[in-house]
Amino acid sequence: MRLLAIETSCDETSAAVVCDGAVLSNVVFSQIKLHAEYGGVVPELATREHLRNLLPVARAALSEADLRVDQIDAVAATQGPGLPAALMIGFKVAQSFAFALRKPFLGVNHHEAHLYSPWITGTPPRAGFAVFEPNISLIVSGGHTMLVHVEGELKHRVLGGTIDDAAGECFDKVAKLIGLPYPGGPELDKLAAQGNPRAFDFPRPLLNEANDDFSFSGLKTSVRYFLRDHPHLLADAQGLRDLCASTQAAIVQVLVTKTMRAAKRLGVRCVTASGGVTCNSGLRSELAAACAKHGFTLRLAEKSLCTDNAAMIGILAERKLLAGHGPAGSDAEVNVGWALA
Ligand code: KG4
Ligand code: ZN
Repeated sequence: MRLLAIETSCDETSAAVVCDGAVLSNVVFSQIKLHAEYGGVVPELATREHLRNLLPVARAALSEADLRVDQIDAVAATQGPGLPAALMIGFKVAQSFAFALRKPFLGVNHHEAHLYSPWITGTPPRAGFAVFEPNISLIVSGGHTMLVHVEGELKHRVLGGTIDDAAGECFDKVAKLIGLPYPGGPELDKLAAQGNPRAFDFPRPLLNEANDDFSFSGLKTSVRYFLRDHPHLLADAQGLRDLCASTQAAIVQVLVTKTMRAAKRLGVRCVTASGGVTCNSGLRSELAAACAKHGFTLRLAEKSLCTDNAAMIGILAERKLLAGHGPAGSDAEVNVGWALA
């Protein structure tokens, strides 16, 4: 099946072509530089950018896959959750393609698609459904932090999530406090590499609670108060590196400890992670160390597939269509707040 997939839920305009589990093309146009000026994603600007860029991005994805649009067998798009107008553009364009081509169309949940991105590897990238095994999946981005028990293909149960800020939001807000440009997560990661993670003892929210939930707003506030009480740190280069390393250590310890605990409790042998924060070097190395210690196989999404992309949407949609899900009718609408169950 040659499937064209579209993703526009936030600030990446992306189109991909997948065929029988292989990613033939995956074009991602990131709007990050545009939003950096405003210190965060501006929904109205995101909408206009998707409108401007989606058709060229879709054309590029088809051209890279060496296919004409009439050679496509099915179309898919992110149905939710996400920014309302941004979602509507990708969803309705994809639905219209399918309508014009008289081909099946399927809308998929953005987070469910993240669950499969760690399984897409190799050159050209291909989904490893043949080696798929039940796992605990950590989805960790600027908008979401959740732990999911993936019991089998297309079968999952959300165990917990953040009750306030997402981990990426915490990285970005702490980075902003010390004057790093948006999005601050990657910048903070770089400084943390040269700092002492034990220099300052920041809280590890919900670390010892017997649940799979997260909370990061208190950690951000405690860094803010710490800087208020130690303003000289802002002019101390090594002090700032230590602050970054200590903040990162607190976030990473909570994410890794709770992921390991869930994996042990549910008896899986595999742990996976995806979402923008999975690019964090501390998270990648600590997850690797913890999985090695506890005997879990670790599958981290490749860095290019950690952030939002249409390849993961296409891989999931193709699997779902083959498994008999859908297709969606021409009256299907976006589901802005579609929470994964
Ligand atoms: O998945 P993503 O592109 O978009 C959302 O759905 O939010 O994730 C973006 C988030 C931002 O908060 C960004 O700062 C964070 O991922 N991020 C990182 C790193 N790279 C991206 N956070 C910490 N360390 C990194 N290396
Ligand atoms: Zn995402």
